[in-house]
Amino acid sequence: MNILVIGAGNMGLAYAKAIAKSKLLSSNPLMILDKSPDKMEELKTIKNFQVYSELESCVSKADVIFIAVKPYHSEALMRDLKPLLTEDQLAISIMAGVTIQSMQEALGINKVLRAMPNLPAQVGKGLTSFTASKEVSRLELSMVKKLLETTGKAVYLDTEKGIDASTGISGSGPAYVFYFMQSMMEAAKKMGFSDHNSKVLVEQTFEGAIELFNQSDLSPVSWMNKVASKGGTTRAALDSMEDNNIRALIQDAAFAAFERAIEMGKELELQD
Ligand SMILES: NC(=O)c1ccc[n+]([C@@H]2O[C@H](COP(=O)([O-])OP(=O)(O)OC[C@H]3O[C@@H](n4cnc5c(N)ncnc54)[C@H](OP(=O)(O)O)[C@@H]3O)[C@@H](O)[C@H]2O)c1
Repeated sequence: MNILVIGAGNMGLAYAKAIAKSKLLSSNPLMILDKSPDKMEELKTIKNFQVYSELESCVSKADVIFIAVKPYHSEALMRDLKPLLTEDQLAISIMAGVTIQSMQEALGINKVLRAMPNLPAQVGKGLTSFTASKEVSRLELSMVKKLLETTGKAVYLDTEKGIDASTGISGSGPAYVFYFMQSMMEAAKKMGFSDHNSKVLVEQTFEGAIELFNQSDLSPVSWMNKVASKGGTTRAALDSMEDNNIRALIQDAAFAAFERAIEMGKELELQD
């Protein structure tokens, strides 16, 4: 399989590096294209990359075209791509809010997939949700799943609404975790810990809790009940969270991201 990644930013590069390291490529190197000359020099030093600056030189060689530019660059890029594409090629977009139908129209091909990654893809622990136009075959879906899984896990969803919803959970989710970490570090500092110790206390607590969770079949509620005994310190903290409705507020935050994802899609369509 010949793969072309367009846009070597945070996300495009994470996928490109992971795919290039995998065994999913044909004997050819991974093709990558970015418009920034500085970035090109850096890309040329990466093993198993073939770097391009012109779409005309690489698009026809690709079976799969991975589009990883910012949504506001999508219109110009797709306009340039359209005359170079053929019906047998597959386009995968990770651009937030850009719908399958708008890509089919702009690219003039039918086999289009839309994916929503998250930042831990950069360390091989990402979660990518994806969906596809009906023209994409089962075999192609399973091949794309393998490509996306080079950066972590991939989950197929039936609808594009699911992609917007996953933006509110896994796409934006890493920031919610960082928010919680930051709040706990601030509490530690208020209790008198140094910056260093605040960081170590919080960092190791998160790591330990995730490891415990991963190594068992217990739900988060079961783990909370194991840590919290009646009248104890953890129960005092959990009761305080429940009394302050933190659970509902976290859910509201996730829905705010979900709704914003839908809005962004509409804003992009209005620009067309
Ligand atoms: N970062 C996240 O956590 C995240 C999560 C989910 C989805 N996404 C999606 O992932 C996509 C990429 O995000 P990112 O953070 O990786 O963006 P980024 O770091 O800005 O990378 C995009 C790259 O594409 C280049 N580019 C723009 N137009 C191009 C063109 N016509 N041809 C070739 N290269 C072009 C940009 O160059 P210039 O810098 O010179 O413009 C830049 O190097 C976005 O659509 C975003 O919605 C990101």
